[in-house]
Amino acid sequence: MTFLAGPEREPRIGSAALPPGWAAATADRDPYVVPDPAEVAVPDDLRAEIEEIISRYPDRHSAALPALGAAQRRYGWCSPQALVEVACVMQVTPAYLAAVATFYDMLRTQPSGRRYVYVCTSVSCHLRNARAVYEALVRAAREQGLEDCEIREFECLGACDMAPMASIDGRYVGPLSTSDAEAIVTALRNGDTPLPGRALGDPDYQLPWQRGEEHPLPAERVRPHVHPAGGVAGEVPE
Ligand code: FES
Repeated sequence: MTFLAGPEREPRIGSAALPPGWAAATADRDPYVVPDPAEVAVPDDLRAEIEEIISRYPDRHSAALPALGAAQRRYGWCSPQALVEVACVMQVTPAYLAAVATFYDMLRTQPSGRRYVYVCTSVSCHLRNARAVYEALVRAAREQGLEDCEIREFECLGACDMAPMASIDGRYVGPLSTSDAEAIVTALRNGDTPLPGRALGDPDYQLPWQRGEEHPLPAERVRPHVHPAGGVAGEVPE
């Protein structure tokens, strides 16, 4: 099996095309060979962080996700060079890490903004108007000229009880409404923390019902496009 294949030397693993930018960094290196520590310079702090992560697991392969997360925090994305550095410290092949990085959505395999807003639009959040929240954020970002920030829809982030919610630079913020969009984008533009006090882990954070409040209902009733049992629901009977 080869990492680079095809007449245009498009980077591939098997039949899967790799993200743009990977060819240059992989052209002179066999991704199925564990990098030699004598040949790869890894920043000391990144090496120390990855080694600490590895020490938590009985098998170093299990450290792949958090180790790649550490590299992503440092470089902004899981670049080919970042994969080589992580592979060098973990003593695994870059191909093993590429398989992990290209599978998990939270790991970025292309350059993107330093900051990010991942709006969950899976079922629980969708039923509470998440799509409108996402669209309001995109609109506000355009209007305010927000740069260096990735805003995208995301699959369930595992915080359905605070639906609709978003991961903003890793902070789980919610429940959100469309009226929060302007403040979130303004904070991101100014380099501030969006919606302080509204995220899991913020001091005194509580869900609405923990404060004795009703959960805010979306302005409009949202109909699911997909029936919970599978297939397209179409019109849902009242
Ligand atoms: S459906 Fe949005 S966090 Fe689970």
